[in-house]
Amino acid sequence: MSSARIVVVGTGYVGLTTGACLASLGHRVTCADVDVAKVNRLSAGRVDILEPGLAELVSRGLANGRLSFVVGAREAVRSAEGVFLCVPTPMGAGGSADLRAVEAVTAEIGDVLPPGCALITKSTVPVGTAKRIQAMVGRDDVPVVSNPEFLREGTAVQDFLNPDRIVVGSDSHAAAAWVGQLYGDLAAPVVVADAASAELVKYAANCFLALKLSYVNSIAELCERLGADIDLVTEGMGYDRRIGRTFLKPGPGWGGSCLPKDTSALVKVAESVDYDFRMLTSAIDENIAQRDRIVAKIAGACGGTLAGARIGVLGLAFKAGTNDLRDSPALAVSSVLGALGAEITAYDPAVSGGIAGMTVVDDPYQVAKDADVVVVLTEWAEFRNLDWVAIADAMEGDDVVDTRNLLDPGMILDAGLSWQGVGRPRAARRRVPVS
Ligand code: UDX
Repeated sequence: MSSARIVVVGTGYVGLTTGACLASLGHRVTCADVDVAKVNRLSAGRVDILEPGLAELVSRGLANGRLSFVVGAREAVRSAEGVFLCVPTPMGAGGSADLRAVEAVTAEIGDVLPPGCALITKSTVPVGTAKRIQAMVGRDDVPVVSNPEFLREGTAVQDFLNPDRIVVGSDSHAAAAWVGQLYGDLAAPVVVADAASAELVKYAANCFLALKLSYVNSIAELCERLGADIDLVTEGMGYDRRIGRTFLKPGPGWGGSCLPKDTSALVKVAESVDYDFRMLTSAIDENIAQRDRIVAKIAGACGGTLAGARIGVLGLAFKAGTNDLRDSPALAVSSVLGALGAEITAYDPAVSGGIAGMTVVDDPYQVAKDADVVVVLTEWAEFRNLDWVAIADAMEGDDVVDTRNLLDPGMILDAGLSWQGVGRPRAARRRVPVS
């Protein structure tokens, strides 16, 4: 397709990735944000988000003139052919998605959109939002299209440019198809749907992933109780193509900016049409139970009580490869540990600065100093390569709780420490015989 004039409203993870990637596909993209300082930084090529490849795409787009940043969307949209809404839709009161930002932008730009311009929702929005926006805009000549994103943090650029599928939905088939064509030659199937179906695809997919993870965490718990090994169980399950090999790793619970808010939002959406989505509420409850089981395991490693225990935490981000702390399971576990009286020293390669209730250090070995237990909460690969003998020497106790099954238990044993993972047999420290 030829180059289109696109405006992206909102320059968070989704908006900036969308804008920079669409510019890299040849479109002329203006990204609008209300944050003046952020627009200035981005215009100078400074990207605050840790997202591989994103800063390079932004620099390239600025240099070749296909990408620009402006404050406020109203002027920018006057000559647009398509406007992507990428503003936050956080979890609002009671678990529903908070649509105030989407509504505010719609009100700001609705009357100045050129005839025929597609208004496209990219942020995850409840089913029915496209219809609501259409009513708010109140114009027959502006089609509203849902085009949900399926970007994982840490691989957002890669995911955008190599999608499994592109979903576009609108009551105007032509507008949906036009948005599908913006993705040009990306080799992915395009699902053209009605707006409600496209909106539901996003929730259905994310909630399925959450169900899958809660299921795996439950099976991991069974493994511990039955003396089985989750690594072998998931390997055996994963070869079944109907199940697939990914998203089968147990952990301290699932988190991040999407799965917690999307699961709560879909429960609310279901309630609004009198459906009690018990399977999904169970998955959410199970996620809290998983956090509590991890806390209990750490308490056990501390001899049964967390009061006064010194815990060294490795990893704070909600997953490796990002500095995002939103709904991080690592923070959820740490905050319960702190509430139960533990003293926490934490290190994350991508996180610096103060976090309430803990001391954040910039050296992984500092967390080990005098620690009763060291806990791995985020699966940063570099934790595997730490000098575990030096960690063992610095620690007061000798237990490592690896909530991501990241470390090689043999290596931990060789360092003179005990290892416990999730759903795997414990590897107890080899006691040196006293002669
Ligand atoms: C997710 C969806 O994957 C993406 O399609 C959507 O657009 C946004 O939400 P993201 O939030 O970046 O992406 O994280 P994801 O990689 O999906 O991980 C979510 C949580 O599940 C993290 O806390 C992660 O650590 C956990 N997880 C993931 C596991 O515990 N085990 C796994 O096997 C995979």
